[in-house]
Amino acid sequence: MPARKIIIDTDPGQDDAVAILLALSSPEQIEILGLTTVAGNVPLDLTTRNARIVCELAGRTDVGVYAGCDRPLGRDLVTAEHVHGKTGLDGPKLPEPTMEIAPEHAVDFIVETLRKEPAGTVTLCPLGPLTNIATALQKAPDIGEKIQEIVLMGGAYFEVGNITPTAEFNIYVDPEAADIVFKSGIKITVMPLDVTHKALVTKERNDAFRALGTPVGVAVAEMTDFFERFDKEKYGSTGAPLHDPCVTAYLLQPELFSGRHINVEIETVSELTLGMTVADWWGVTDRKANATFIGDIDADGFFALLTERLARL
Ligand code: RIB
Ligand code: CA
Repeated sequence: MPARKIIIDTDPGQDDAVAILLALSSPEQIEILGLTTVAGNVPLDLTTRNARIVCELAGRTDVGVYAGCDRPLGRDLVTAEHVHGKTGLDGPKLPEPTMEIAPEHAVDFIVETLRKEPAGTVTLCPLGPLTNIATALQKAPDIGEKIQEIVLMGGAYFEVGNITPTAEFNIYVDPEAADIVFKSGIKITVMPLDVTHKALVTKERNDAFRALGTPVGVAVAEMTDFFERFDKEKYGSTGAPLHDPCVTAYLLQPELFSGRHINVEIETVSELTLGMTVADWWGVTDRKANATFIGDIDADGFFALLTERLARL
């Protein structure tokens, strides 16, 4: 079976970093065509710095890092330093990156890659606000039918919001972009807070990362030591939720996850519920299903996969 070709669109972010490392650890299953960065957790210059730090940590400076949009389509940027720290990758002390930023804009890289590769063979994996993806679809509508699938982290239904009472951060930062993506007709699989809040890095699980004793294992443990503060304080969680690695794990072992194919629409008008993913989980409307909305995970299986794969780096 050939490796699945993906583009990871990302705003690292400690959890983005773990998602990227998991993808890099599994080259026989995943071929990363490139990392495209977007403003989100922290501004674009930092997400682009952090993506390169992660590639260097994994010894994979061959992976192209393409800087993308530095603000949402039509709003001011909202960032999340309160969760990820000033750099966006607080926790481990990692060297400043020396690898180059690829010269092409992320949106152009996405468009050109989708036009170059055989139709239906490239999966987009957005882990941050959907600004780059929506901009690519607006700039080159022809790419929509070339995308195999979009597997994204974002949204929430039963878990409601983490940045406002009703909205999850990635969708909230650029709701107009999310609206374009969810109305695109492209096959979409969503990893919302409903499932990512079940992927908690308990102390035992984080000790297992540290016990790998490798630079990657120790760095991931230190990222989590920092990243867990927000959720422990806010939700009383037993550990940090590994939001973005759920996307990568889904590509590697989809059987770890379960969900429903339902209608999901994005609130873009009301200030009160801006960025809410209105998920028709109970099928109470006749709105057309447009996304597979994941609600559950085999958490032990997820962490067994993650720990085993990180050990390879
Ligand atoms: O709400 C969680 C999401 O927002 C994750 O992707 C995290 O990295 C931040 O981007
Ligand atoms: Ca992210």
